[in-house]
Order: sequence, then C-alpha cells, then structure tokens
Amino acid sequence: MTRRAVVTGVGHYLPERVVENAEFEATLETTDEWIRSRSGIERRHFAAEGETTSDLATHAARAALQDAGIVADDIDAIVLATSTADLTFPSAATMVQSALGMTRGFAFDLQAVCAGFVYALTNANALILSGQAERVLVIGAETFSRIMDWTDRGTCVLFGDGAGALVLEAQEGAGTSDDRGILSTDLNSDGRYKDLLFVDGGVSTQTTGQLRMQGNQVFRHAVEKLAGSAHTALDRAGLGADDVDWIVPHQANIRIIQGTAKKMGLSMDKVVVTVQDHGNTSAASIPLALSVGKARGQIKKGDLIVTEAIGGGLAWGAVALRW
Ligand code: UT7
Repeated sequence: MTRRAVVTGVGHYLPERVVENAEFEATLETTDEWIRSRSGIERRHFAAEGETTSDLATHAARAALQDAGIVADDIDAIVLATSTADLTFPSAATMVQSALGMTRGFAFDLQAVCAGFVYALTNANALILSGQAERVLVIGAETFSRIMDWTDRGTCVLFGDGAGALVLEAQEGAGTSDDRGILSTDLNSDGRYKDLLFVDGGVSTQTTGQLRMQGNQVFRHAVEKLAGSAHTALDRAGLGADDVDWIVPHQANIRIIQGTAKKMGLSMDKVVVTVQDHGNTSAASIPLALSVGKARGQIKKGDLIVTEAIGGGLAWGAVALRW
C-alpha cells in the first residue's frame, strides 16, 4: 500500500466586481480587441476596497471544506500560496486559520508567484506523505489589483483577483498510476531571469511596489518550460500525454495555453480554460480553474489531471494527479 494525498474537496471565490476589457479603453491606449486577441482575456474580477487576500482565501476555503464534508478542526495544516498577503506578517494563512475558527494544526504562506499553487501542492503532498498531516487545506489567493501600475497597458489589463482551495487527504493507494491523488510533481526555478517579472518594491525598500514584466520575454520561456515540466511529471508517474484527461494550466494567456497543449500533442478539448473570465490571478488561477472545471462537469472522479504554471523567478512546475 502507498500513502497518497487525494483531493476530497474543492471551492473558489471571486470578488463581486467584474471589470470588462472595454473599461480600460477610457484610461489607456488599448482596446478590447487587443486584449482579447493577445491574451484571451475578456474580463476579470477586482477585490472591493478593504477586501483582502485572506478574505478571498477564507471564502474559497469554506467552499472547499463544505465540498469535502468536513469542518475546519478536521484540518491539520493550511498552505496558502500568495504573493499579495494582507500584511508583511503574520501570514495570510494564519488569518484564514483564525477566520475559519481552526484552533489546532499549523498554517503558513508560500510564495512562488504564478507557480505558487504547484509549489503549494508539492509541499502539501510532502506533509501528507511524511505523515506530518492527514488533511491539508491548500489555497491559492491573490489581490494582484493592489500591485498594478494603472498607467502600464502592458500589464494592468492582464491580472485579476480571486481564490481557490483544495482539501487534500491521506488515503491508501495500491502504488500504481491508477491510484487517486497526487502521483508526481516537478518544481524548477532559475533566478537568472528574476528581472523579467518582478515587483519593484518590498519591505526592505519601504515601498509596496508595482508589477513590472517583460511580457514577450516571459512568453518566450513559457511554452517550452511548461510542456517540459508537464512531461517530466507524467514521466515520473509512469504515464504519457495520451493518458491525460485534463490539463489545468496556469491561466495567463490563451496563446501560452494553446502552445503548451500543442507541444504536448493534446487538443484544446482536454484543457480547462478560464482565462477569459478571470484574467491572470497568479497563484489562484489553477485552483480556480479546478473548481470551475469541476462545476462545469469537465473534471470527474478518476480523471488524470496535469497542472502546470510559470511565473516570476522564473519559477515553474507541474503536478500530475488523479482526481
Ligand atoms: O503569469 C505569469 C507569467 N506571465 C505571463 O505568462 C505573461 C506572458 N506574456 C504575455 O502574455 C504576452 O507577452 C503579453 C499579453 C503581455 C503581450 O503580448 P505580446 O504579443 O507579447 O505583445 P508585446 O509585448 O510584444 O507588444 C506588442 C505591441 C507593443 O507595441 P509595439 O512596440 O509593437 O509598437 C506594445 O506596446 O503591443 C503593445 N501593447 C498594447 N497595445 C494595446 C502592449 N500592451 C498593450 C495593450 N493595448 N494593452
């Protein structure tokens, strides 16, 4: 028998305010047509004034707990992937812990920007496989609207706010790729590319900073690194692209999503796409897409899913899991 970290619940939350591409036409030299054709984004959600990342995360966490049919005190750990925590410290994860009324276990944030959720899944999996936790709430939550330069048309039209969460639970599997749960993971980073996507502020510079991106340079790295990482994860699970039921990619740009699917030899019928409605929500995009994909009836129990993401660092990775 092999211990596996199995998804037993999923949920998401999107702030109420929806901003259509056309809204940017009033303040920027841009068009709905440019944003749609270059990125696939049609709209995104922005958090209300005073609404924080931990608020979004708490809503998503409640939805995932409900879906799993458990309560907060059944959870041993919260791993929250975010680059936009409410405060410098304590972690947004401990704020979620308190908001859920969870009085035991432990909670921490993890920061790997847009790759944050594959990093969080990998770490949560390790906590479960090592026996340190039986049930882990894995959350991706972001308020990227807080770090936009609203005069930079090359970035501010691309990002949105939101949160998604999974409950991972220890279960016994047979040790084969037919098992439910996380089957393999692959993480990478290369700090030589740190200047391609960064926020030009932080605690030790005494500013919050704003997001800066050389979009076309990030794009250049994306497809190859994502397809490579997805293949590595599949290989480690003893599986191939033909076995994949759904790719659930980081939702940054439809052209990156299409390019990665093509490089993997998979049709777009096998890809969960939400970028048109959410924009790029960084670490929240994969759990949001998993939750929406399940609600749409795309993702079903037993499906083989590959998630993959790349972002600031550069940091990238992939996780193969059976739903
Ligand atoms: O999630 C983290 C990872 N991030 C990503 O994966 C993002 C990766 N990059 C991208 O998605 C794309 O590179 C973008 C959507 C950001 C840009 O698309 P692109 O096809 O790479 O365009 P570009 O940056 O090469 O810019 C083409 C032109 C430029 O004008 P010139 O220099 O050719 O005259 C830009 O100034 O488009 C211009 N442009 C815009 N025009 C209208 C840039 N932003 C806009 C805009 N509206 N919003």
